[in-house]
Amino acid sequence: MFIKRPKSWEIPENKASSEATFLNRRTLIKAAGFSGIGVAAGLSWPSGTMQAAENDPTADLYPATVNPAYADAGKPITPEDVNSKYNNFYEFGSHKRIFNEAQKLKTRPWSVTFDGLVDKEMTVDFDTLVRAMPLEDRVYRHRCVEAWSMVIPWSGFPLKALVDYAQPLSSAKYVRFETFNDSKMASGQRQIWYPWPYIEGLTMAEATNDLAFIATGAYGKPLAKQFGAPLRLHTPWKYGFKSIKSIVRVSFTEERPVSFWEEVNSKEYGFYANVNPKVPHKRWSQATEEVLGTGGERVPTQLYNGYGEQVANLYSDVPEEQLYF
Ligand code: MTE
Repeated sequence: MFIKRPKSWEIPENKASSEATFLNRRTLIKAAGFSGIGVAAGLSWPSGTMQAAENDPTADLYPATVNPAYADAGKPITPEDVNSKYNNFYEFGSHKRIFNEAQKLKTRPWSVTFDGLVDKEMTVDFDTLVRAMPLEDRVYRHRCVEAWSMVIPWSGFPLKALVDYAQPLSSAKYVRFETFNDSKMASGQRQIWYPWPYIEGLTMAEATNDLAFIATGAYGKPLAKQFGAPLRLHTPWKYGFKSIKSIVRVSFTEERPVSFWEEVNSKEYGFYANVNPKVPHKRWSQATEEVLGTGGERVPTQLYNGYGEQVANLYSDVPEEQLYF
């Protein structure tokens, strides 16, 4: 007899029976005064007032089809109105309410350059690129280093598909990601004490793990600007700062990239930044997290944000003291 054993990352921490999830969702809807339920390809969440990006040339792609392995993150999806009004996007300000300012982000034309240790350097228009990728929907938990969390219904594709598309050489050990740099458009980039542009990096093994995801949509629509349109990374087992937004360059390197926050303060922010409740940030505990959109509920944080079964094996040869900050 075939018995489906859920993978550990599918198991909710709080025993998410569908009834509990449903009730919780109802409570959220009521609490936030939402008028309805958003639905995309079998997923549902409290819908808000955010409209689909008008005139987006990729709107027809969303929602995509849900990947059943990631259909349930074990916690209710964060209401769209909460998620889209509480963001980190330092290019548009060093606070959470950047959603208005982020509307200045010009997402067309948008191209992505692939360079470094690749067979052939290339620059590809985003609208061409996204149509060449295997789009799907996934619900992921998102844990910020600031000890808050959300649950997001993304659309996008595995980062591995992008790596395959770029055809890196076998000498490539890391992938380096870069965000746009335009201080005329992005007021935060006039804060010259930050090392713009925002940079992030992964090992090749991390980048080709099935969990590493490039989001091009959320809540059944093309990605809203404050989420890092038109394409951003999400590595849900790592602290949120690894999930770089609005990517313009993907480079393959032999040397480990130095990421934005590591450059700002290497004592507090490292390269791996895997979630671990037992390793506190230099200035606060990581033992628990506030679940945004619930009126202040705090829950215990899980090692690798609960995705350990899929990623713990990536780190057998990395010293423990480097892994969790
Ligand atoms: N990417 C860029 N380019 N700029 C940023 O400021 N902030 C990071 C990450 N990616 C950031 C970024 C941080 S600290 C977090 S927690 C997440 O984006 C926040 O993503 P969200 O706003 O979709 O929740």
